[in-house]
Amino acid sequence: MPDARLPTIAVLATGGTIAGAQAESASHAYRAGALAVGHLLDAVPGLGQLAHIQAEQVASVGSQNMSHAVWADLAQRIDALCSDPSIDGIVVTHGTDTLEETAYFLSLVIRQDKPLVLVGAMRPATAPGADGPANLYHAVALAGCAAARGRGPLVVMNEDIHYAREVQKIACAGINAFASPNRGRAGVMRSAQACFFSRNDTVHGRASVFTLQALQAAGWPRVEVVHAGVGLGADLIDFLSSRARGIVLAGVGDGNATNAALQALQRAAADGVAVVRASRTGSGRVGRNIEVDDDAAGFIAGGELSPQKARILLMLGLALTQDPAELQGFFDRY
Ligand code: SIN
Repeated sequence: MPDARLPTIAVLATGGTIAGAQAESASHAYRAGALAVGHLLDAVPGLGQLAHIQAEQVASVGSQNMSHAVWADLAQRIDALCSDPSIDGIVVTHGTDTLEETAYFLSLVIRQDKPLVLVGAMRPATAPGADGPANLYHAVALAGCAAARGRGPLVVMNEDIHYAREVQKIACAGINAFASPNRGRAGVMRSAQACFFSRNDTVHGRASVFTLQALQAAGWPRVEVVHAGVGLGADLIDFLSSRARGIVLAGVGDGNATNAALQALQRAAADGVAVVRASRTGSGRVGRNIEVDDDAAGFIAGGELSPQKARILLMLGLALTQDPAELQGFFDRY
């Protein structure tokens, strides 16, 4: 007899290392997304005492291959589940490599309050000491928690809770690979209990002006990232400026680059390409007109967003406007 006091949580699986399998447990090599969602759920002790689970396999990809098509499927499915009164919360299992991008994208297009938690693992499901089962246990507990409502998508990894806008994968290995460098963790999980340290006071969910429909109607505007470094020339930027609608500079320091690169970006901006300056440093805030004259060059300052998140916001912004001042407004607020 099902326990009516337990929440019902939808688990949407997309692949990743959390569903990864090795040929042998001592091997470093593995295939991400090899195992189906039922296998992941069966490996979590005590899950049945936390929630009733409704599982769906949305995709089975390593998250380096996450795509606009899967994002669209995921966003539509989450939207439908948010409107289904029999569902209390939603968990998305995801590869860790682009988890922060999917979380941020969903924070801007899902205009609902229901708890939504993204989770992954750094060790494959078949590895000794796999972190997936503990992370998934925490994710289901968090998705069933009333305090998780209205905060936008949350990411839970290694007992830490992160807001979608803040979270970054900061290491390529090790179970402690996620952090929120600018504003800090949202909270922590202690067994099945969530403890929040802060509110999410950045724009997300119902306050967002962005929609999947507008993005699809605009054909997912192409935005590319150019990584700055010593000696960066103009040719890559000149090449992109005839192909992309937006370019994000992963700039040195405060979103800066060589004179040659900045001049090429200024030419691109004059040709109608939206140019956003972000920082490759991993934290901090890129403001307007500090070392670079954004007003003269027609650039947009990327604020606190990492280059990969600036790329997503610019893509969504370009679905609504081409105007650099309006786009700057999005970067100031989101
Ligand atoms: C992936 O992102 O799918 C592979 C890496 C991981 O999940 O940790």
